[in-house]
Amino acid sequence: MSKKEFIRGLNEDLAAEWGTIIRYTYQASKSFGLLGAELREIFEREIQDELGHAAFLTDVIVDLGGEPTTIPKDFEKPDDLKAMLELDLEMELKDVENYKKRAKHAEELGEVELKVKLEDMAADESGHARDLRRLLKGL
Ligand SMILES: [Fe+2]
Ligand SMILES: [Fe+2]
Repeated sequence: MSKKEFIRGLNEDLAAEWGTIIRYTYQASKSFGLLGAELREIFEREIQDELGHAAFLTDVIVDLGGEPTTIPKDFEKPDDLKAMLELDLEMELKDVENYKKRAKHAEELGEVELKVKLEDMAADESGHARDLRRLLKGL
């Protein structure tokens, strides 16, 4: 694993974060009724987490000498609420796996602080996945 490949991976994570921020903002706006009100609250809270992740990744990529992406990863836009939450759950679980993988690469490169922070981010995404599972159970 070269530093260049590591930066490329971090940029994929960053594009995913920008995509999630836009997806949750979009979905919050498309959520109606009582459940929609609850969803909006959860999305707004999680957007703050994802913004923190994106800001951190941007700093790290610059620090490593890379160019941080500002292009979000594209996402699907299901109309149905359940399909929407299932998509979010799938994406959060993907993020968990990617951050775990990235933390391993950071360790290989001797980036101790980064390894711990990336594991923390995997834990955050795992928490988001749990929130979504709980919501889905109630549907
Ligand atoms: Fe995130
Ligand atoms: Fe997340």
